[in-house]
Amino acid sequence: MDSLEQLIALDRQHVWHPYAAMPNPLPVFPVRAAKGVRIELEDGRSLIDGISSWWTCIHGYNHPRLNQAAHAQIEKMSHVMFGGLTHRPAIHLAKKLIDITPDPLQHVFFSDSGSVAVEVAMKMAVQYWHNRGETHKNRFLTIRSGYHGDTFAAMSACDPVNGMHHLFSGLLTEQYFADAPQTRFGEVWQERDIESFETLLKENNNNIAAAIFEPIVQNAGGVRFYHPEYVRRASELCKQHNVLLILDEIATGFGRSGKLFACEYANVSPDIMCVGKALSGGFMSLAATLATTHISETFSSGEAGVFMHGPTFMGNPLACAVALENLNLLESYDWQSTVATIESHLKTALKPCHNLKAVKDVRVLGAIGAVELHNPVNMAVVQPQFVERGVWLRPFGRLIYTMPPYIIEPDELQAITSAIYDVVSGLETN
Ligand SMILES: Cc1ncc(COP(=O)(O)O)c(C=O)c1O
Repeated sequence: MDSLEQLIALDRQHVWHPYAAMPNPLPVFPVRAAKGVRIELEDGRSLIDGISSWWTCIHGYNHPRLNQAAHAQIEKMSHVMFGGLTHRPAIHLAKKLIDITPDPLQHVFFSDSGSVAVEVAMKMAVQYWHNRGETHKNRFLTIRSGYHGDTFAAMSACDPVNGMHHLFSGLLTEQYFADAPQTRFGEVWQERDIESFETLLKENNNNIAAAIFEPIVQNAGGVRFYHPEYVRRASELCKQHNVLLILDEIATGFGRSGKLFACEYANVSPDIMCVGKALSGGFMSLAATLATTHISETFSSGEAGVFMHGPTFMGNPLACAVALENLNLLESYDWQSTVATIESHLKTALKPCHNLKAVKDVRVLGAIGAVELHNPVNMAVVQPQFVERGVWLRPFGRLIYTMPPYIIEPDELQAITSAIYDVVSGLETN
């Protein structure tokens, strides 16, 4: 048996972590178990997870109903290929997704991760125009400060500065970037906000297959909450200029913003929608791309006669069975009140952060709370400080944020917001 020190040394030497250096990565914390909202470290410490394992485990870890769904499915089959075969978990999950998303979305393409769901959406949009003989429509309009994943097409639609596009120039398709929306959620709408989107669309719609963006919440691009009118106007403009609309609900979907899907704030229904993260219940990787019949019906008659995509683990039965139970669970209680309670706690408890000199802004929407600092966070310093206080948060850039599991208890949420206040008050500014 390896000692804990040996394990950590092996990890340090051989295992690459997300957005990590190699060699000399920042320290990582070995985990031996997780249950409810708690992550148990190998050294016995217990951490309250304030970010739901990157926004996925909305019902916490080791949930008995999700475990039961997984066990029941394993007894039948954990995987079978999806080409030429089908199964109940995928069929029932697809039906559930169609029932809970905006009505025109009728067709579901399963994939393994959010980034792939975005790749699928972008490819679907390009192939749709190809099917219709409009092969020149193969670029995308998006908005600055967005994030859509780390694969190449998804990356091409991420914010060019945050996404460090210059590193991959020549490989990344150049897309059209509208200015990021400035009118915040809850403020009075400013008409000039949509101008750059409108101009780009007017001038380039002949080349543009679709507009793609995250509705209402730009999460990884800076936890920015913007005005629903932007989404509504962008949707109208897309229709007017014969461009499809792809909404990326991978971070916002399944209640996180306070609505089941953030596009509901704007009463907008996209042509294509991406979901992932919370869909999976945080259990295993799963994502989906949904499309309207208007999109899907062009595929049989196009040059290829089919949609040119088919991942090996598409529609994995185990992931689908657990995701279905996760959505049944979500429907079984009043999640709107749960999220509203989290929102009101976050608003009250994070408000005092406004008075700290390191803080530039504090923002809350649904079960999302963010404290933006004047300076970038020093992860090597800040991460252990949260661990010492018994909470797990993963700040990035100038942001310390929380997106807790919906099952979190008030005292646990209090522990998170107090830790944020404590750690931020200890930061120096110039
Ligand atoms: C809005 C959005 N789209 C896509 C992705 C990519 O998802 P994944 O990390 O599962 O590939 C993310 C991940 O943070 C996201 O927030």
